[in-house]
Amino acid sequence: MNERTGGRPPGAPLIVLAGLQKAYHTPAGEFYALKAIDLTLQQGEFVALLGRSGAGKSTLINMVAGIDRPTAGEIWVDGHAVHRMSEGQLTRWRGRSVGVVFQSFQLMPMLTCAQNVALPMDFAGLYGSPRQQRARACALLAAVGVAEHADKRPAAVSGGQRQRVAIARALANDPIFLAADEPTGNLDSQTADAVFAVFQQLVAAGKTILMATHDRELASRVSRVLRIEDGRIVEDVQLTSAAEGRALVAEMDA
Ligand SMILES: Nc1ncnc2c1ncn2[C@@H]1O[C@H](COP(=O)(O)OP(=O)(O)O)[C@@H](O)[C@H]1O
Ligand SMILES: [Mg+2]
Repeated sequence: MNERTGGRPPGAPLIVLAGLQKAYHTPAGEFYALKAIDLTLQQGEFVALLGRSGAGKSTLINMVAGIDRPTAGEIWVDGHAVHRMSEGQLTRWRGRSVGVVFQSFQLMPMLTCAQNVALPMDFAGLYGSPRQQRARACALLAAVGVAEHADKRPAAVSGGQRQRVAIARALANDPIFLAADEPTGNLDSQTADAVFAVFQQLVAAGKTILMATHDRELASRVSRVLRIEDGRIVEDVQLTSAAEGRALVAEMDA
């Protein structure tokens, strides 16, 4: 099987979740953070996952991104049976095929911005020599509007700039989809807007994005909104216009 393209027939959904469940072991027993999630995402969709704190957003993101493993059910991403992968396969697949963006950026403080972006290329053994990897890292930093900060450490740039660097890092190995867990949660609304605009550009260029968020205003501007409550998807709405998006999301209890 081709690691980059999977075995997905043309036109088939990019992501399929079937009967997905995730239980955490707690002192009080098993706690099901996800309860039988069935979900299909097409390539090119920009999907917001909306829900209260504790609803299961991060758990779902972590399942789809291969960061954590399901208790039951199936996760298919681009033709790959993620639920069947060994730890080694999962690590390898994740490094090459998934881009993840976190609320807290999670950049390596001792590395420059360009080195942070080149790191996943190095881990995956992609994009040639260190020089070539650096050139690609700088091009990605330029694409998200922070080219001039390539040689600074993350602590020397603003929060919005750090998140742009983290997005460039997520794009390092040209993943088929991006998973973003409250990527604007630590940013003021104007900076959040600018980071959101970067996601919109990526979707326009054909990427697929699943973004957990608390921000209804941003959620109203994507192509599809899922609302999760107590580990279940309780609403799934395709948005066709911004006005409709605002109206629908304003009504949601999240
Ligand atoms: N490692 C864990 N161990 C036990 N319970 C957890 C763990 N991670 C998350 N949970 C619980 O699972 C539920 C969903 O959490 P989470 O996916 O982080 O929600 P959200 O991202 O929507 O705030 C919450 O009740 C949370 O307390
Ligand atoms: Mg969360």
